[in-house]
Amino acid sequence: MTKNYLEAAIEIAQEAGKILREEFDRPPSIAYKGEADLVTQADKRSERCIVDRLNQYFPEHGIVAEEGTGRDTASEFRWHVDPLDGTTNFAHKYPCFSVSIALSQGNSIIAGVVFNPYYNELFAAARGEGATLNGKPIHVSKIDTLAASLLCTGFPAHKRVASPNIHYYWDFTLRSHGVRRDGSAALDLAGVAAGRFEAFWEFGLNKWDVAAGILLIEEAGGEVSDFAGQPYQLGGPMILATNGLIHDETRKVAEEISHRDPAAPLRR
Ligand code: IPD
Ligand code: CA
Ligand code: CA
Repeated sequence: MTKNYLEAAIEIAQEAGKILREEFDRPPSIAYKGEADLVTQADKRSERCIVDRLNQYFPEHGIVAEEGTGRDTASEFRWHVDPLDGTTNFAHKYPCFSVSIALSQGNSIIAGVVFNPYYNELFAAARGEGATLNGKPIHVSKIDTLAASLLCTGFPAHKRVASPNIHYYWDFTLRSHGVRRDGSAALDLAGVAAGRFEAFWEFGLNKWDVAAGILLIEEAGGEVSDFAGQPYQLGGPMILATNGLIHDETRKVAEEISHRDPAAPLRR
């Protein structure tokens, strides 16, 4: 059974979102993957639902899923699944979390969905067809200076002391309207695509955190790279995603901070 990729991703994200919504109202069942790296029953139930459906609809495709239940195949099509992005928020009942599902074909991301089931916001994009929020087209913002921008970033839950991000956080806070740290990279990227933030950056994210959000931003007219301005490779050491208009200015500030060392973009 072959389905339209984006339609399938939307249907599956909504089904997983229902599970998250249900689990959100229950006492959380938390386990630890690391000192402050949480996983809940909701992460696992959501992933099981998504992987089962993908297996059913696209048995040939590869799946990379955060909780480890995906599978590698010879197919050029690969799904990138974060069954619950924002687990720490979820476990504390802070309603900022999402399901993120994307499909790549070779090196190109061709479909992506980020769904916040609490606020019922569904961001979707297919390569060449634009980005939408609940079916309506979205675009990046038109703000063209860093000083007038609202930014967002995130901090890792594992190897926390190794992250240089606090230096960037400090500097960018003083050079902009502010920096939000909302705890779901997928929603942060969707926020840039929808014009709520002008830029997002983070170190050490995984493919499943960013794949859908990157396509949303590209289809909404924004730009994604690493700090050196090179194309961002899925799973690369840092990502900078902006509305395009402040990309160079933001990138140069990041470079300036790294010249003072802050882990000189992770010692390339
Ligand atoms: C985390 C969130 C968070 C980011 C972390 C991610 P998870 O994903 O996206 O915003 O700062 O780096 O690991 O663990 O909640 O799926
Ligand atoms: Ca994540
Ligand atoms: Ca996750």
